[in-house]
Amino acid sequence: MKQKILVTGGTGYIGSHTVVELQNAGYDVVIVDNLSNSNSDVLDGIEKISGIRPDFKKMDCNDKEGLRVLLQKHPDIKGIIHFAASKAVGESVHKPLLYYRNNIVTLINLLELMPEADIEGIVFSSSCTVYGQPDILPVTEDAPVKPALSPYGNTKQINEEIIRDTIYAGAPFKSIVLRYFNPIGAHPSGEIGELPNGVPQNLVPFLTQTAMGIRKELSVFGDDYNTPDGSCMRDYINVVDLAKAHVIAMNRMLQNKSKEKLEIFNLGTGRGVSVLELITAFEKGTGVKVPHKIVGRREGDIEKVWANPEHANKVLGWTAKESVENTLISAWNWQKKLREKGIQ
Ligand code: NAD
Ligand code: WQD
Repeated sequence: MKQKILVTGGTGYIGSHTVVELQNAGYDVVIVDNLSNSNSDVLDGIEKISGIRPDFKKMDCNDKEGLRVLLQKHPDIKGIIHFAASKAVGESVHKPLLYYRNNIVTLINLLELMPEADIEGIVFSSSCTVYGQPDILPVTEDAPVKPALSPYGNTKQINEEIIRDTIYAGAPFKSIVLRYFNPIGAHPSGEIGELPNGVPQNLVPFLTQTAMGIRKELSVFGDDYNTPDGSCMRDYINVVDLAKAHVIAMNRMLQNKSKEKLEIFNLGTGRGVSVLELITAFEKGTGVKVPHKIVGRREGDIEKVWANPEHANKVLGWTAKESVENTLISAWNWQKKLREKGIQ
């Protein structure tokens, strides 16, 4: 009998890739998504890859009663992966209340409903943003959480505290918090990938749109940082590698592989890559030049952050496998597919 998982935000970038890996691992999946930052066409892409069209319900996770009815309709849901959130750092500065409501109330709704629905565990999408600019690199899970630089980052910190306090108060379920570094790339099939609304804020989608000619030029936000080439450094992780970690985390909870009720893992490659290095890697891997110029620093950017992934490597038995170069090629293949479909 297949075990069933609820994936909130499952038509989104990371969620859709995770749904495919859950299906590949033999799970049944129910997606809840309000399509505020994705499109139901993603379900076609998922089905083309896995051969299985997941259950999908268009719903806002702020609708607690709607979630309750959904869980009553699917009493065999054993676990939840909670991706649904607003995630644009810049937007969060201008619309803090939207972010606090959307990113915190949705989690509280799920945590309150889990006991009555007999759900055994929840995987939560957190972010390396909780570390701010770490004092020591690579950063480990016991690095201090620093004051958030944006309301978005603050919602992730608050969410982690809510989960911690709820578990410690004796909640009858487990949780695994996954702190993602910088997810990039697309499924190798080219059927699903990142589809940002409007002008991309993140580096890689802006880069591939520039390579495609959609954007005139990529602005490199600063080359006067204390890094080897002066540009900021990040830990860019392949989105499929990231998705696979979620399956391992869900297995760990549902198979009771740990006596811990709450675990936190950094999901990164352990390698810091600069903006300029990433541009060079893209050009080398694809043979496509990326027009770019150095401009001033972007407010709120941290200088450099990359993970120490040893805890996830050892405890989860998970390691990021795909190279940044091949991941950038997957991002470019996805951009070309979007062009073929007339989407971008
Ligand atoms: P995304 O925007 O592609 O996916 C989020 C999905 O959630 C979208 O499909 C959106 O329509 C849906 N959604 C938003 N609010 C909802 C609500 N109230 N009810 C139902 N559905 C809702 O984002 P993503 O990049 O896939 O990120 C997924 C999760 O991972 C988010 O929680 C994000 O904060 C976290 N995260 C992302 C990154 C990153 O760089 N992409 C890094 C760290 C953490
Ligand atoms: C990466 C690097 C920029 C765009 C953000 C959020 C984080 C998480 C991932 C949700 C930086 C530089 C970027 C451009 C550039 N999201 N850059 N020109 O800022 O590390 O993380 O997305 O959880 O919370 O903070 O990712 O892709 O925006 O930037 O030079 O046009 O690329 O300065 O150094 P970031 P990013």
